[in-house]
Amino acid sequence: VADLLVLGIETTCDETAASVVSRSPSGAGDILSNVVRSQIEDHSPYGGVVPEIAARAHVEVLDHVIAQAMADAGVAFSDLSGIAAAAGPGLIGGVIVGLTTAKSISLAARRPLVAVNHLEAHALTARLTDGVAFPYLLLLVSGGHTQLLAVEDVGKYRRIGTTLDDAIGEAFDKVAKMLSLPYPGGPEVERQAALGDPQRFAFPRPMAGRREPDFSLSGLKTAVRLEADRLAPLSDQDVADLCASFQAAVVDVIMDRVKAGARFFRERLGSGPTALVVAGGVAANGAIRNALNKTASDIGTRLAVPPPVLCTDNGAMIAWAGAERLSRGLTDPLDLSPRARWPL
Ligand code: KG4
Ligand code: ZN
Repeated sequence: VADLLVLGIETTCDETAASVVSRSPSGAGDILSNVVRSQIEDHSPYGGVVPEIAARAHVEVLDHVIAQAMADAGVAFSDLSGIAAAAGPGLIGGVIVGLTTAKSISLAARRPLVAVNHLEAHALTARLTDGVAFPYLLLLVSGGHTQLLAVEDVGKYRRIGTTLDDAIGEAFDKVAKMLSLPYPGGPEVERQAALGDPQRFAFPRPMAGRREPDFSLSGLKTAVRLEADRLAPLSDQDVADLCASFQAAVVDVIMDRVKAGARFFRERLGSGPTALVVAGGVAANGAIRNALNKTASDIGTRLAVPPPVLCTDNGAMIAWAGAERLSRGLTDPLDLSPRARWPL
């Protein structure tokens, strides 16, 4: 049996990305190319992603991004085993652009289409980077999602906990916005936090100590807003201290909630996870990565986090999830519909 060679296309949010990945029959992965064209400059005047602008930008650059990914990998469409695209969840205009392009290539090159769930792609990335075996405990933390999942197999995801209000990345972005930091907020809040005092403000740790492994971020976000309003006008040091104290609260909440999730995992699956895996854009945060290293050893397992470029949206994760599906004979028809909402 030969290696699978898959082109992956990602257009669900504000990155236009394509990548070629191979997967050996034993399950080892290799990234042959990984091209990401960020739209940050297009959206930053608006302080967030504008769906209409995103869709148009994907149309403009996707052909070039795919051509570059194919050239970097040194392969032709006829060499591919399949074409994978994120078919959702996400901003529907962008999803349509990526999926339709994948369908066209699939039709012209006579290679199967593989529709990938964007969240599933985040969930499976650690198998590409760290060779993690099933079942594992996944903390999925992005701009739109905050979930704890038991990943039992490709296509078999058991939800253990979720956020009752804001996603963690969303909370980072909103805190950045209220402190007038540039978009996207997460990396900027992390940079500011490194310059500040994490103990200056005693922000709440919502849900800490609860048995159910759910999250809540809105109370913490409101506490930051109230403190910022009270201090206004803010000095540079105030901003740094607010970021540091906010991030410290998030770190504590994550550690506590992951421990609750690990207990649920053991109860429901009858054994512990092979690894604690962290995925999604927020996993790029160094303070959160460090804290989870300790949490993983506390719950008797190891931490696996993809490198930051594979935590934020990219084409390699889509190509890899496509290869994982293809290795199990899972393909999709050309009349498949894109999905704005698509829970795992
Ligand atoms: O997975 P992703 O690239 O896109 C979604 O599918 O949402 O995640 C983007 C989110 C944004 O909310 C961004 O602010 C956050 O991840 N993020 C971070 C960091 N880098 C990205 N949050 C905290 N610290 C970071 N270093
Ligand atoms: Zn994402």
